[in-house]
Formats: sequence, C-alpha cells, structure tokens
Amino acid sequence: MCGIVGYIGKKFVDSVLLVGLERLEYRGYDSAGIATISNGELSVFKRAGKLKILDTALKQEPLGGNIGIGHTRWATHGEPNEINAHPHTDCSGKIAIVHNGIIENYIQLKENLIKEGHIFQSETDSEVIAHLIEKNTANKNFEEGTLAAFKELKGAYAVVAISEAEPDKIIAGRKGSPLIIGVGKEENFVASDLSAILTHTNEIVFLNEDEIAVISNSKIKFLNLDGVEVEHPSQRIEMKVTDYSKGEYSHFMLKEIYEQSEVIDRIIQTYFCERNLPVKFGGLTLGREYLAKVGKIIIQACGTSWHAGLIGKFLLEKYSKIHTEADISSEFRYRNPVLEGDTLLIAISQSGETADTLAGIRQAKSKFIKVLSICNVLGSSIARESDSNIELMAGPEIGVASTKAYTAELTILYLFAIYFSRLKWAIHQEQMDQAIAEILKAPDLIKKILQNNSAIEKCAEQYCNAKQFVFLGRGVNYPTALEGALKLKEISYIHATGYPAGEFKHGPIALIDENTPVIAIIPKGEIYPKMFSNILEVRARKGKVIAIATEGDEDIKNIANNVIYIPEIDEDLSPLLAVIPLQLFAYHVAVKKGCDVDKPRNLAKSVTVE
Ligand code: M6R
Repeated sequence: MCGIVGYIGKKFVDSVLLVGLERLEYRGYDSAGIATISNGELSVFKRAGKLKILDTALKQEPLGGNIGIGHTRWATHGEPNEINAHPHTDCSGKIAIVHNGIIENYIQLKENLIKEGHIFQSETDSEVIAHLIEKNTANKNFEEGTLAAFKELKGAYAVVAISEAEPDKIIAGRKGSPLIIGVGKEENFVASDLSAILTHTNEIVFLNEDEIAVISNSKIKFLNLDGVEVEHPSQRIEMKVTDYSKGEYSHFMLKEIYEQSEVIDRIIQTYFCERNLPVKFGGLTLGREYLAKVGKIIIQACGTSWHAGLIGKFLLEKYSKIHTEADISSEFRYRNPVLEGDTLLIAISQSGETADTLAGIRQAKSKFIKVLSICNVLGSSIARESDSNIELMAGPEIGVASTKAYTAELTILYLFAIYFSRLKWAIHQEQMDQAIAEILKAPDLIKKILQNNSAIEKCAEQYCNAKQFVFLGRGVNYPTALEGALKLKEISYIHATGYPAGEFKHGPIALIDENTPVIAIIPKGEIYPKMFSNILEVRARKGKVIAIATEGDEDIKNIANNVIYIPEIDEDLSPLLAVIPLQLFAYHVAVKKGCDVDKPRNLAKSVTVE
C-alpha cells in the first residue's frame, strides 16, 4: 500500500526521496510524487503510474532543496491519477502533506472546510489534512497547528508535512499506520518502512500511536497529542541493504522461494534447545504457568497467514489437545467472538501492519485476553501491541506473494504446537522426539524439491493457457490447496479455487471438464486413500490432474496426468514441502504469461487499510 519517505539534511533531496520511494515500490502503488522546499519556495511534482515516469520527468526539472517528502499512492479514494497523487497542498500551496491510511471523517471535515472557503483539488480523503493544517496555522505555529489538525482526524493515519513558513522542519504523526524516524548526522529521515532509509542509517525510532515528531536536521522532538514532550531513544536495527536486493534472481519471489530452506534452518537453530523441552522461544514472554492454563486458542490472520493459521489449528488440536479456532481477521473483528479469560489469541502476520489483524488484537486486548503474535517485522505495530511476539526470522519479504514467510509461519506453528503440548503434558517424550526428528529434515528436503524446478517449469508451460484451475487437498493439506490457489490467482490472474477434496462433490465438481486442470495434493498418510478416490472422481469426468505426491508412490502415476514428487516426511509436515512446487508452479505460469510477478496488479504488500 502507500509508502512515505521524508528527508531533511544536506544531500540532494530529490535523489534521497526517489531512492527511498524505489525501495517502497514493492508495497504496491499506482502514482507517486514528491514535494520539496528550495530557496524558501515549496514545489510539488507528481505523476500517475510507475515511479520511472516521475523519475524521468524530475531529471529534466529537478526540484532541489534540503527538505522534502515523497509518497507512493495505492488508490482508495479517487482514481489513480496525477491530481489524486500525493503530496497534497493547502489552498496557498505553501503546506504539503503525504498520508497513509484512511481518514474516516473526511467528508464532514471537507464540507466544513469548503464552507470556510477552502478549495479542494482532489477526490482524496488525504487532502483535508493539508487544509486543516492551513486552518490551524492561521494563528498558531506549524507545530501547534499540525498537532491541532491531527486531533480533528478520525481513522488511521501516518502523515508527514512540510511548510514554506518553517522550512527547517518536517512534522510527522501517526495513528494506526506505521512511521519510523531514521536518525543521521546533521540529517534525519522519516518513512513508513525501514527499507526506504536503511541505505542512510540503522539508528531507528519507531513512532508510537498518537505521537508526533518534529524533525530538523540536528534535532528530533517527540510529543504526544497533548503537546507534552516524550522521550524516545533510538535503536540499532541490524538489517542490511542487500536483504532488499534480488541478487542473481530474476524476481524477488523466486529468490524468496529459494531462501526457504535457509529460513527454516535458521528458525530451527534459533528455537531448538535441549531434549527435555526441545523448543524454546526467546521472545515468548508469556509465562509457562499462564500458558499451561490456556483453555482455548483463537488464531486470527489474513490471506496466506490465515492459511498458515488453519494448519496451526490442526497441529495445536492434534498435539496439545486444545480447542483452537482459526479465523480471518476481517471476520473475527466484527463477529463479536466469545473471548473468555483462559483464551489465548494468536495473531499471525508477515508485515505486522495488516489493519484487520491489528484491529482483532485490539479487540482481544480490550477484553483482557492475552495476545501472542507471530510476526516477521520487529517493531511493527502488531509485534509491539501484542503481549508477546515470536519472531518469524524470514528476513525481508519483498515479493507481494508471500512465500518464505508462509513456510516460516508453518515452522513456528509446528514448533509452538510441540512446545505447548509439552507444557500441557499432552505429548510423551517419544512422540516429541519423533516430531522434532521430522522437522530437522525439512531444510534439506526443501533443497531437494527446488532441484526439480525445471520439471515444474515444464509442467507450468503445459498448463499456462488454462482459464481456470482447481486445487484439492484434505486434512492438513486442505489449507495447502487454498494457498496454492491464492498464489496462482494473485500473480497470474488466472481464476483458481482451493477446495477440501471431500467437499468437492457437493457442488464444485460441476466445474470439471477437460479444460479445467486440477492440482491434487496427495502426500502419503492416513488420508491418502480418500484423496486417491477424489482424484478418480475428477478423472472420470475427463479432468486433467497434476498430483503433488510422495516420492516412491507409483500408483499415482496410473491415475494422474502429471506427477510432481516431494520427499517423504511425516504427514503433519507435508504442507511445508507440498507448498514449494505450488509456489514454483504459480511463479512459472505468471512469468510465461508476462505478468508483473513481484508487483501484481491491484495488490499491496502490506494491507494497512481494512
Ligand atoms: O502481512 P500479513 O501476513 O498480515 O498479510 C496478510 C495478507 O495480506 C497476505 O498474506 C496476502 O494474502 C499475500 N498477498 C499472499 O501472498
């Protein structure tokens, strides 16, 4: 979704902003712009479409100066055109703002401002902020006026503003949407995302909810919304700029698919401990006594993270014998769920900024329910607002389609289920040793699947012109079917539906004909014979079947049109392996169709609005 970067210092501001915006491109956007103050005059330059268009135009007519703000916009209110692109200005063109989030009371605010004589240019909710600052600075300074303007806003915002009247400061404030401040020497930065400023500094301050920062080149002052100064020491973030480059790979998604073995190995090395209680989570600050008394778990998440949650439910119920629900955050937050004292809420999120998941956490906390998050981005809103956080350690995930974060989530959930079942004495030593022995095999087995990439690519080539796909799975691999379908549709724009295979004959089997390929996930395990019958039902209706099966399964060759093998592993861990060929399949189909794999249309990496 939208991205923000701001800079004050001696460097050439256009280029700091453009490089920052380039690093935010992965979040998804449809227009971009910058505003700077040069020789006491504020100028704005924006363009619809890709950043390259803005970049080329700016090279002809640079804005210059030592202070500026930039934005990539993912349209919510109003078309993705130049007028609606940020930065937005007040009537005088002397105040410019960029905004992430949604101002829920903007219609009311806009009507009042229009009555007072303000003239609006865009259809956005964001423009009201510039006019509100204008109104409030009529008799106050920039800091006081901006603070007063923020107090009138309802909804979610991360706002960064500059004013010609006080060209020595940037003012930034947030509620609901993230903002970080980068601390430099005689220069400072502000951004919505670490990636935008990591080339310049690793000293970071995560701005809190309802706080503002007044940023000059040598000083940063933090205030709460009452105008009271608050302390905010910076912290050093050990992330490298190279984590944000795709290296030898043609796409971030492919790089991230290939990183999965390493990521899972890292997770195991970090959280694996000794034999008696082999799993230990460093960041897990919820006490063992508390956890042992938990009577019910609710997992809430969105998209791919929700699919991981569905598998988490399966594992927690099986190993810990604890009733577990897995809900989509946008449903959870509005369904008035039963949240009782002994319930633990688990929130799963790669980005840590997903608006619905964050809202679910807040709802649980308002009812005094403890929240454990499983999150990739340290310092993110979800990680910070939860009672405890287990870090995913997948490294930055740039491709919009989530891959390595998903397998990292599955690994953590598996380890957590073992840890939890041990606390509850629901698993005996032998079972636990066996479960641990299985996960230890996973990194090497994933490498082996990746060696089969060219066969998967050929299979993708064979089927890439299909108009729709069906993905079928059962038990612990029903969510794998959902995830396979999601991967394919989000990056190749081919319609795909994921279904529990046992439910297929209750309606969706009507879709089957010779032009609708079915991808069937059928690893060896208890449910194998049932899945086998479901495949026969598809074949009987002339459906083409691509089976994801376990090495050594010769029978499957007799009924499937194509077989992609995965190595043998315990059925409970088969989702971790089965999803890899599905990710590669989706990737190759999308490449063959010429789609923008890393930045699919209409999508954003981090969904910060509901
Ligand atoms: O950052 P989160 O894990 O909270 O994001 C949740 C979903 O938005 C995300 O998984 C989305 O579905 C991806 N595009 C899937 O590839």
